[in-house]
Amino acid sequence: MENPPPLTVGVPRESFPGERRVALVPASASPLMKLGLQMLVERGAGTEAGFSDNAYSAAGAQLVDTRQDVFARADVLAQVRSCGANPTAGRKDLELLRTGQIVVATCEPLAEPQWMREAARTGAVCFALELVPRITRAQSMDVLSSMATIAGYKAVLLAAGTLPRMFPMLMTAAGTVTPARVFVVGAGVAGLQAIATAKRLGAVVRAYDIRPAVREQVESVGGRFVELPLETGQAEAAGGYARAMDEDFYRRQREMMGKVVAESDVVITTAAVPGKKAPLLVTREMISGMAAGSVVVDLAAERGGNCEPTQPGETVKVDGVMVLGPANLPAEVPYHASEMFSRNMVSFLKNLVRGGRPALDADDEIIRETMITRGGEVVHERVRDLLGERAQAAALPGGQTPLRASDAES
Ligand code: NAI
Repeated sequence: MENPPPLTVGVPRESFPGERRVALVPASASPLMKLGLQMLVERGAGTEAGFSDNAYSAAGAQLVDTRQDVFARADVLAQVRSCGANPTAGRKDLELLRTGQIVVATCEPLAEPQWMREAARTGAVCFALELVPRITRAQSMDVLSSMATIAGYKAVLLAAGTLPRMFPMLMTAAGTVTPARVFVVGAGVAGLQAIATAKRLGAVVRAYDIRPAVREQVESVGGRFVELPLETGQAEAAGGYARAMDEDFYRRQREMMGKVVAESDVVITTAAVPGKKAPLLVTREMISGMAAGSVVVDLAAERGGNCEPTQPGETVKVDGVMVLGPANLPAEVPYHASEMFSRNMVSFLKNLVRGGRPALDADDEIIRETMITRGGEVVHERVRDLLGERAQAAALPGGQTPLRASDAES
């Protein structure tokens, strides 16, 4: 029997406004070929990230002229943003998707679950990379971590570029310059990178997180952990994420952080609770208490913001303090962001493809946790929950998941 043609992984140019990343870089063509996958790239897809069409050709990828060509020929679409992560421009892609076609991308399934229902109707199998579980085996696929690393780094550069002071302490013939005081709220992946970057620039860095386990990590990258007398024993949930606390907790946290915020030249907030609106941790009043010229960078801007005055994608001035709410920071470092995203993508595909064909094996935790749509339905339990479909699904004979290892497509 003849061998089936190699599976084609299509890379369309990103269509979300301002998105400069590309889902697969030329260097990924070779590991994909080893898996039996052929890379098919829309011309210009990598240009804004610094990867030319020639570089893709030289690496063994095929180039096609249009987005339609990529969608028509690809068995698997590799995208930075699909579905709810590209809600307006991405709508046109729904017409291009077909039954059984696989999409691997960030999809915002928890924030925009209704989008997943629309994607399901196309019959495509959509995997949301945001939901890669935080298990050791999946670390190399974790786009939230790789992109948060970039956002944390870039947030500090934005702050340093906006602050009318320098970061390092300098002793010069023209006098001594005192170091900038930076306060990082939320010391997860982005926060730790922000601490390390600010420290490398010479700032004095303090940080706070409600997960007590983080203290050591803050210290290991050169920050000082701020102790707040708050009961945080229950603050850590599965996967190392923070749990949502009640409004009374956040009110007390704001009160206790007020003094540290007022003493800081730069505040960088990164606090998030998965699937929830970001907690409000810095009020307008707290910001007014900072010295004029100080800078606040709210990395949670796209999740509702940690700071009261934040406007996503904009900078607002509050009593002389600049409050930045940057959106999509990884797209501002598109070369390395694409390289890291691409490694995450290849790693994900390595797990998905067995013997050159996709293995939709629901016994595999990574596949089960990331597969949102299949066979015309939303199959992911949490997303179904969000869509209010659970009751209906529970009424199905044999339970709510139509997915079983035995229906894996081989
Ligand atoms: P995230 O982006 O969801 O949240 C950022 C930070 O905000 C977290 O550290 C969280 O504890 C903190 N936060 C939430 N509410 C807060 C509040 N009221 N005040 C102060 N801080 C608050 O989290 P991220 O950065 O994606 O990951 C968090 C942790 O997950 C990591 O530090 C790590 O321990 C773990 N992790 C595990 C991985 C794995 O096992 N594969 C991969 C990456 C992270």
